[in-house]
This record gives sequence, C-alpha cells and structure tokens, in this order.
Amino acid sequence: MHLNRVSSFKSAGKLITGQGASEQLALHVQALGMQHPLIVTDAGVVASGTLEGVTRQLQALGLFCGVFDGVTPEPEVAIVETCTEVFVSGQHDSVIAVGGGSAMDIAKCVAVYARHEGPLEALFGEQQVRQREVPLIAMPTTAGTGSEVTNIAILSDKAQQMKKGIVSDCLLPDVAIVAPELTLSCPRSVTAASGVDALVHAVEAYLSNFATPITDALAVKAMGLIVSALPKAFANPQHLQAREDMATGSLLAGLAFGNAGVGAVHALAYPLGGRYQLAHGVTNALLLPFVMEWNKLACVERFRGIAEAFGEPVAGLSDHAVADAVIARMHRLCAEVEIPSGLRSFDIPESAIPELAAEAIKVERLLRNNPRVLSLEDIEAIYRAAY
Ligand SMILES: NC(=O)c1ccc[n+]([C@@H]2O[C@H](COP(=O)([O-])OP(=O)(O)OC[C@H]3O[C@@H](n4cnc5c(N)ncnc54)[C@H](O)[C@@H]3O)[C@@H](O)[C@H]2O)c1
Ligand SMILES: [Fe+2]
Repeated sequence: MHLNRVSSFKSAGKLITGQGASEQLALHVQALGMQHPLIVTDAGVVASGTLEGVTRQLQALGLFCGVFDGVTPEPEVAIVETCTEVFVSGQHDSVIAVGGGSAMDIAKCVAVYARHEGPLEALFGEQQVRQREVPLIAMPTTAGTGSEVTNIAILSDKAQQMKKGIVSDCLLPDVAIVAPELTLSCPRSVTAASGVDALVHAVEAYLSNFATPITDALAVKAMGLIVSALPKAFANPQHLQAREDMATGSLLAGLAFGNAGVGAVHALAYPLGGRYQLAHGVTNALLLPFVMEWNKLACVERFRGIAEAFGEPVAGLSDHAVADAVIARMHRLCAEVEIPSGLRSFDIPESAIPELAAEAIKVERLLRNNPRVLSLEDIEAIYRAAY
C-alpha cells in the first residue's frame, strides 16, 4: 500500500466563472436559502462601485442584507471579532464576501467563528475548526489570492508581528463566483501585487513536494495565463479579456496551491508582511526570483515545465540555462508591473535579517512543501540576496 501517494482534491462547492458571472449571485443566494446575508467587504471596494450590482440583486430578491466594510488590507485578528459582532447582533444567517483576499479571509473566519463556542485563538493552526453552519459565497475582486477556493485564512497578529493561518476544509466556500468584471476597477498597484501573488501560487504549487498531476495541470495553465495577461491588465485596466485571463489564472493557481501547497517564497514573505505591513503580493515579488535561484539545485529539471508554460524559447538549452531564463523572466515581469526590487527599497534594515530568518524557519507548514530543505543559514542567505 502506498498511502503516502494518495491525494484528495478540494475546492469550493461550486465554481461560477466567466464574464457576467457576478449576475448569477441571486440564483446561488436562493439555492443556499440565504435570507439575511452579511456582505463582508472593504471601503476601497465600496468606493469603486463594485458592490452595486451585488446589492441590487439582493434587493431584487427582497432580501435585507447588511454590509460590513471594515476590512483593512492584510487584516488583523481583531477584525474577525468586530465583524462577528456585527453578524451576531444583526441576526444574519449567511455571509457573502466581496473583495480581495483580505475581505474573503475575514468572511471565511466569520462564517466559522460566528457559531463557535470559545476563543478565536483556539481555531488557529491546522484542522482546529470542525464545522461550519453558516452558508458562504465568495466573490473575488482581485486576481488574486485564490482564497475563494482555498481552505486557508491568513490574519496579521500585530502583537506577535506575524501572519497566522486558520487551515480547515470548513473554510471552503459553498460557491465561488469568479467574475472578471469585478476586477476592472482594481488600481494598478493592486493588479500588480495580487497578480504576482497568483503567479507565485502557481510556481510554488508546481515545484511543491506535494504536487500531483491534477495540480500540475492547473499550475501550468495558470502560469501561462498570468505571464501573458498581467502586463496587459496592468497597462490597460479596462482590458476585459486580460482581466478574465487573470481571474481564471488566479482561480487555477488557487486550486493548484490549495491542494499542493506553497513553499519558501510564502514562508519567507510572512515575517516581512507581519513586521513591515507590506502588501502580501509585494513581499512575494521581492523574494520569488531569489528563492527560485536557491531551489534550482533541488529540482532544476522542473524549471523546463515552467519555461514552457511561460512561452520561453528554451529548445536546445541545458536545464540550468532554462532555469536561469525562467528566473530572469520573473525579474522582468516584476519590473514591468513596477514592483520595486530589493528589501532595501522598503527601508527594511539589513540588521533585521537574522530575526526575519528566525521567524521564517518556524513556518514549517509551508517549508515542508518546498523542494529544497532550507536551514536557518540558507534563509538568511536568501534574504541577503533579496536585499
Ligand atoms: N486565503 C488564502 O488562500 C490567501 C492566499 C493568498 C493571500 N491571502 C491574503 O490575502 C490578502 C491580500 O489580498 P489581495 O491581494 O486580494 O488584496 P486586498 O484584499 O488586501 O485588497 C487590496 C486593496 O485593493 C482594494 N481593492 C480590491 N479589489 C478592488 C476593486 N475591484 N476595485 C478597487 N479596489 C479594490 C481594496 O480596497 C484594498 O485597499 C493578504 O492578507 C494575504 O495574506 C490569502
Ligand atoms: Fe499568496
């Protein structure tokens, strides 16, 4: 028996995709029996007008919904408490997330915490949440985190200066509505950061120790879509086809990493995000090429699959030359979408590197997915290379 070779694949209960998908919300609200949903979102999404079509559909159903727009980027643990109070005091029966990863992660937490007896702290970690009674729909407005199809919610713990995760299959939404039209109003910096995050999800899932033929197929398709569409969506925010390709790429990358996991880029990004309040996608972009340089030794032949997905002309090149071409392309892409390179550009002191490395090595949940085993010294060396 090879039990360690058996894998299961998880996703949201239903995936609704394609241009115009947001107009299908009402159907799914009815199918799930939602009577009094709480929309969980943030002020930026509200100001962009992205919420209007959502509330219009709910009003047409005669539903009285509430809106919690107090989510902030890279949200803190306390926002789950505040939003849950709104949910409970408003006697809501269901949650609809409309926003980026931040709003979706808060919504996922509220959907489980609202009916949980005991402190929120007890839910952190892996599989501590046993059930979810509250129906949940997720509508991403960035492309993106893939949070609409993952069993993870990431919160910032200010006191510990760390990002923390709740991991449980109960966090998987009942329905994910991935509608490119909801991303048209994304500011360029958000398009860039969340787009690189999606690319990192696909690359890390592809190189993960837990990759399967299913996650590979998803990751390869995602990498191709994102590498081609991200510069277009950045250069022309109203380019609906580029937005659709990004929405699809982000979804596929979410499905890939939601099952194969992400690795050292994310593990090293968490302490940076926790301490310096940088956008998650930016911290990933800062580290991606340097972690890949390090990973090359462990799995150089896997870079050919990435190169092919990127459409890099690599016929006749050695595996090492292929890997170098892939890494150069990653540097170029981040520069094209105007993400500054180098930790120094964000005023991070070089003297902080040993502490960052000491935090990163604790993120065992992700480091175990990484193709190369990393020591504390290795992690410090990567931060220094990325400095
Ligand atoms: N749960 C997961 O699987 C998972 C995966 C990756 C990242 N994350 C988490 O997701 C968060 C980052 O999410 P994100 O990158 O989607 O950004 P975000 O949700 O933090 O949003 C960033 C900014 O963009 C604005 N915005 C979003 N959509 C908009 C739109 N359509 N129009 C105008 N403005 C819009 C928001 O108002 C906000 O100010 C981080 O906390 C990260 O840790 C979670
Ligand atoms: Fe991510």
